[in-house]
Parts: sequence; C-alpha cells; structure tokens
Amino acid sequence: MAASVLGKRSRRDAAQQDVEAASPTKKRHTRHSAPRIYEDQCTDTAAVLPAVTRRNRTTKRNSQNDEPEPEFEPENLPLPFSTPSTTRFKDVFAASSLSTPKHRIKLTGGILTPRTNRTPTTPRSKSVYAAARQLFTQSAYPSRLVGRDAERRQLQSFVDDALASKRGACTYVSGPPGTGKSALVQEIFQSFTAGGAVKTSVVNCVTLRSADQVMAKLGQDLDLPSAKGKRPGIMHLQQSLTSNTKHGMYLVLLDEIDSLLDSDSEFLYRIFECAMRPTSSLILIGIANALDLTDRFLPRLKTGDLKPHLLPFLPYTATQMSDIIAMKLRSLLPAESSADAAFVPFMQPAAIQLIGKKIASQTGDLRKAFSLARRTIDQVEQDTARQMSAETCTTPVKQPFAELANLPTQLPPSPPQRSPVKAPVSQSGSDGSHGLLLTVETAPRATIGHVAKLASSIFSNGALSRLAGLNLQQKAVLCSLVANEKRRSERDPFKTPSKSSSRILTVKDLFEKYARLCQRDDGLLQPLKKTEFRDVIASLETLGLVHESAGRTSTLFSGSKMASKAGRNAEDRQLVSAVSVSEMKESLNGPGGDLLQRLLDE
Ligand SMILES: Nc1ncnc2c1ncn2[C@@H]1O[C@H](COP(=O)(O)OP(=O)(O)OP(=O)(O)O)[C@@H](O)[C@H]1O
Ligand SMILES: [Mg+2]
Repeated sequence: MAASVLGKRSRRDAAQQDVEAASPTKKRHTRHSAPRIYEDQCTDTAAVLPAVTRRNRTTKRNSQNDEPEPEFEPENLPLPFSTPSTTRFKDVFAASSLSTPKHRIKLTGGILTPRTNRTPTTPRSKSVYAAARQLFTQSAYPSRLVGRDAERRQLQSFVDDALASKRGACTYVSGPPGTGKSALVQEIFQSFTAGGAVKTSVVNCVTLRSADQVMAKLGQDLDLPSAKGKRPGIMHLQQSLTSNTKHGMYLVLLDEIDSLLDSDSEFLYRIFECAMRPTSSLILIGIANALDLTDRFLPRLKTGDLKPHLLPFLPYTATQMSDIIAMKLRSLLPAESSADAAFVPFMQPAAIQLIGKKIASQTGDLRKAFSLARRTIDQVEQDTARQMSAETCTTPVKQPFAELANLPTQLPPSPPQRSPVKAPVSQSGSDGSHGLLLTVETAPRATIGHVAKLASSIFSNGALSRLAGLNLQQKAVLCSLVANEKRRSERDPFKTPSKSSSRILTVKDLFEKYARLCQRDDGLLQPLKKTEFRDVIASLETLGLVHESAGRTSTLFSGSKMASKAGRNAEDRQLVSAVSVSEMKESLNGPGGDLLQRLLDE
C-alpha cells in the first residue's frame, strides 16, 4: 500500500510540477526572489546557458511589471542563445524530488505493499441479509426447483422411455421467459451426467455463433468420431448419431434454438429429423419461447410425418411464485430452528404474496419476481440499519458509568420483538454492527409496504420509459385522452354533470376531439387521417398506455365480456388511459413539448 500510495503521490507531484513549469503565473507565486545570476562574471558557455534561460524568463516577468532592469539589456549577454525546448525546471528539480517509478520496485526482504483488495467488499455483504439477497441473484446456484412436478414427470419419463427402448426421440419445450424451462431440463440432465451411463451435451445456441460451432461442440462433448479429411458437417453428425449403437445413447439439450432459425434452420430440421429416425441414438430436447416453432419454422417435419413431443411451460401464477420465494427464504433457516412451520424469514407472507401478484399481473417471469424480492430485502436492510443506528444514538448516556450497574430497575425497556421467534442475542452493536448480530430468525422482515413502494416506483417508471419512446402524433392522441380524463376528474362534484363531460371517450369521440384540438393551434399539428389514427390507437394499446374501458359492460355486471365486445363496433370502444396526468406532463419535454402541453391544458 505504502509503495503504491507513494507512487501515486509522486506521480501527481510530478504532474503538478509540469503544470507549474508550463504556467508562468503559478511560477511567480512559488519563487519569492529572482536569482541574481549575472553577478559573477562567468564567461564559460556551459556555465552560462542555464542562467541565460532563467534570465530570459525573468526579463519577461519584469517587462510585464514594467520595471526596467539594465543588467538584462541584450548587449550584456555574452552569447546568443535560444530557448531550450526541454523543460529545464523539471530536470533541475528532478534530483531533489521523488520520481514515479515506472515499475514496482522489488525490495529485498518482505513486500512492503500489503496486498489489500482494491475493491473492498462492502460491509453490507457481511450482514445477515446478504444470504437472503444472494438467493435471488442471477448467478445464484440453482437449488432444486420448487413445483413444476407435472413437467418434471413428463420429461423424466420421456428420457427414461427413450433410454429403455434404446431409440432416439425428441421433445420441444416451449414457454415464455423465466418459466423454468432451462433450469428444469438441466436439473434432469444432471442426474444422467452424474450417473455416467449416457453421454450428455448441453448447448446454448445463443452463445455459439453458427450451426458449425454447435456441431463442433456436440462432437467434442459426445466424443464422436471425427470426420476423416473432411470438415465435420451435418451429414457426418447424422451418421455418427444413427449408426452408432455400440456407443450407447446420446442425450442432447439445445437451448434457445430460435437463435438459429434465421441462418441455420436447415441444421435444426436435420437434427430433429435425425433424432426421430428408427436407428437413432440421439435423445434431443430443444428449448425456445415460441409455442409453435416446430410447426411454423420446421414444416418439413410435419410433411415427413415426424412429430416431436411438445411440452409447453405456462407462466407461473402468483401463488406459484410466492411459494418459490417462500421456499427459498425458508431454506436459510438453520436445521435446529425453533420457528414454526409457517414462518418465513426476511419477508412477511403478505409481502411475498404481493410480489407474486404484481409480477404475475405483468409478465409471470420469475426472474422479475426474484429481482423485486432482492430489492425488497435491500430496502428492509437499509430501514433496519437506519432504525437501529437511530436507537443507538438516542440511548440515554447521561448517567455516569458507575451507575450502570446490573440493577433490573435501571435497565432500559427491552426492544420490541421483531419476529415471532425469540431473539437470542442483542439486536444492535454500538459500532454499527447491528446487521451482524441479527440472526435469520430475528432479522426484521419486509412488510407489504416495502413491496408496494418498490413496485409502484418500478412499474410507473416503466410507463415513463414507454412514454419517452412515443412520437409526436402518438403523444398528441394520448394527450387528448388524458386531457379529457383530467377535465372529468376536476369537475365540480356538486354540479349536475352534463352528458358529454361525464362520458368516457369512444374511439370516434377521441378522434373528433383530437382533430379539434389540432386545428385549434392554427393547424400547427396536422391531424392524422382516420385510418392512421386507428393505427396510433392500436400502437398505444400494444404499449399498454391505453386500454379499453370495461365501463358498464363489465363482466362483473353483465354477462360475458366477449359477447359485449363482439356486439360493438370498433369505433364505439370506450378508451381509458393507463398514465397519470403528471406522468404525461413529465414526458412532454423535447420537440413539440409546448404544443402538446397546450393540448393537455385544453
Ligand atoms: N420452479 C422454480 N423454482 C426455483 N427457481 C426457479 C424455478 N423456475 C425457475 N427458477 C429460476 O428462475 C430463473 C429463470 O429460469 P430459467 O432460466 O429456467 O427460465 P427460462 O424459462 O429458461 O427462461 P428463458 O426463456 O428466458 O430462457 C433461474 O434462475 C431459475 O433457477
Ligand atoms: Mg432458458
């Protein structure tokens, strides 16, 4: 440390010297008296030159100050000179100042520089919450998956049957992101890899650039005989995987196969087809998001009457996601824990349920639920730290030490219990190490409020970023709708509402209103044609910024929503916006902002 600090310091000093040497104004501050160089009558050229340089600079300084100095007259100079190009001040002082070593100087004996971590770990990671946070990180070691029992059974029996019959087969697993497809298939593969009875290969097609690379990886993992004299191609791969019964069966997972569709759909077709040949030793599992990938992109399979097994994964429901989070958190409880069976550390059950509900209503992607859980744990950790340091600060310290005897009457009231489990140790330390003294069972748990606060900030930010991506016309249409809603909400509640002002706008009404508002500004914003307007509405609906109002035709009160929808004209659909006035206002910066602002304030 010392050496490195020293190095840094001297480098900075040298730089400062450079700067100072280059800047005459600075120099003037640092030198207090001009050297009187020409007092000794030196005639030796070598001895005079440095002095000449200094004299020359001093002349410049003095000329700035308008002070005549006769000894610097040009005829007094013994030799013609030129200003040296090198910075002599640096050289002159180099001997006395520290120079930055170019390399680490190896000292004999012990190394003086302590090898400390340059990016020290934050003290936060030592707290009891770190383990909980770690459970929900992307890189977390995947524990056994919770649930997905039906899918697990299907996949397991698919592989078992193929192995028992010694016949190749293939299955295509599909489903939206974050539904546990890769995790489950890999979990099943692990049992076979550990057994060693089958050769396995797991290939993520996104990480490899082409089908050639996929084939090379397969050849390597499965230890296939290499093609003699030829580049290993699909024909060779097919040959190795179909006429090779003495080597046993091959179990292959091709994940994210949709990434090969554009460039290498032929390869995909060939490998699926190869797995379904009667002589095949290949048990293939392909994974992608699209439900109908094999039908849509590999139609030749259908024409050849080759039908892979299909296994769709549905998005997780709110309950499933809550169960997964709760199970993960419970796994942190020590084996000897006295907590009751329903107790979940770090988060109250209501908070976990809210995470499940929030994410299920948006995407059903478990990664997003994990991310929200992680942020909730961060939040509760920060709150706990704040609360505990406040408690530590407010501890009365007026009494002298002598009086702090272990008298029960003088003890401060015990802190409120933070969880249903009894706290075995003190909750906070005077050195701010409170997080270290909490245990999994006693750590304060996240409440529903923590989750609600985070979710609202996350999801409303989503609306803002979607608004930022809109073009002028899309914003103008949305402004017209939001302006109408604003007017409705500002209406005097004691005034009898007129029919037009209390009405939710239909597509037709909105078009008329939008066109009227556009014309109001001297036609500065040219209104769209009706067909274009409909496209804009469709795009806003897709972005989730506008949606159809259930209104009086809500399924809650009147029969089927589908029926009511079908009976209505597209123009009569009632629209409501999914953004608040403040969000809309915030998004109106940029070109045309004032124009849109006037639409909003109509
Ligand atoms: N049932 C589960 N129990 C515990 N963890 C799960 C479960 N399902 C998924 N996970 C975790 O969720 C994360 C996402 O799962 P996975 O990668 O399998 O999703 P995916 O369906 O393959 O998504 P994508 O289509 O984006 O590849 C992983 O960290 C995984 O460990
Ligand atoms: Mg995946």
